[in-house]
Amino acid sequence: MSKPVSVLDVMAAKGRRKVVEVTAYDYPTGLLAEQAEVDVVLVGDSLGMVVLGYDDTIPVTMEDMIHHCAATVRAAKTPLVVCDLPFMSYQVSVEQACANAGRLMQEGGAGAVKLEGGRDFAPHVARIVKAGIPVQGHLGLTPQSVNVFGGFRIQGKSAEAVRALIDDAKALEDAGAFSIVIEGIPVEAAQLVTEAVSIPTIGIGAGVATDGQVLVMHDLLGLFERFVPRFVKRFGETAQYCREALIAYRDEVRDGTFPGPEHTFHMPEGALDGFDAS
Ligand code: KIV
Repeated sequence: MSKPVSVLDVMAAKGRRKVVEVTAYDYPTGLLAEQAEVDVVLVGDSLGMVVLGYDDTIPVTMEDMIHHCAATVRAAKTPLVVCDLPFMSYQVSVEQACANAGRLMQEGGAGAVKLEGGRDFAPHVARIVKAGIPVQGHLGLTPQSVNVFGGFRIQGKSAEAVRALIDDAKALEDAGAFSIVIEGIPVEAAQLVTEAVSIPTIGIGAGVATDGQVLVMHDLLGLFERFVPRFVKRFGETAQYCREALIAYRDEVRDGTFPGPEHTFHMPEGALDGFDAS
């Protein structure tokens, strides 16, 4: 087995090689990420949409995150597993943030946590890090603020917005974050943020200039078909493949070709001699 990826490995990648992060939510997806030898697995609150069928991430609870994180870490032994703090599990106070980050580590088995927000949440990040829990920041189109943004809209399109993003990123770095996800911003803005901090930026919908990339596994595998954001590249058509397999199963059950002789057990010779079924 390879040596587990640490936060130091992720930090050391800046300027040397791209960090590969992908979401996973359970044992099978955790195992796929492990086998693909990615650097970081994110148990994202996107599970609300791609696994639980909600319209956004708002309804996701701490219990959901702990349940899915614990399943994921049983499979993902080598990548660093980061678990999202869900909506309203950290926004209320620094104490609430620290206590819930502790639960994700103790009960979920996470190696680090992620939370959304910049300068306003730097005290929360500092406190969590002080408690011994690594933190990944998240800036730009932060999905837990979808109702404030008025929808999933690209952020960071003006010079003032870029200034704010840079100030937020520096505040997270100063608070001790080991990396920052930057989501849904123009490539020029992402490049300026990336150059402004010495910790890695991990982009999603932020172009190629970031220090790494993250995608939702169900998007990149083509397993989630309800919609495809423009920044997603589908590297597979998994839902189509699964559907074809299920339809073949249905048809073989209906026409009696499954189970075949190779899937069937027999009683030993003579075991039914003299047996009367009446
Ligand atoms: O929840 C999630 O999957 C995320 C990624 C989109 C970065 O936060």
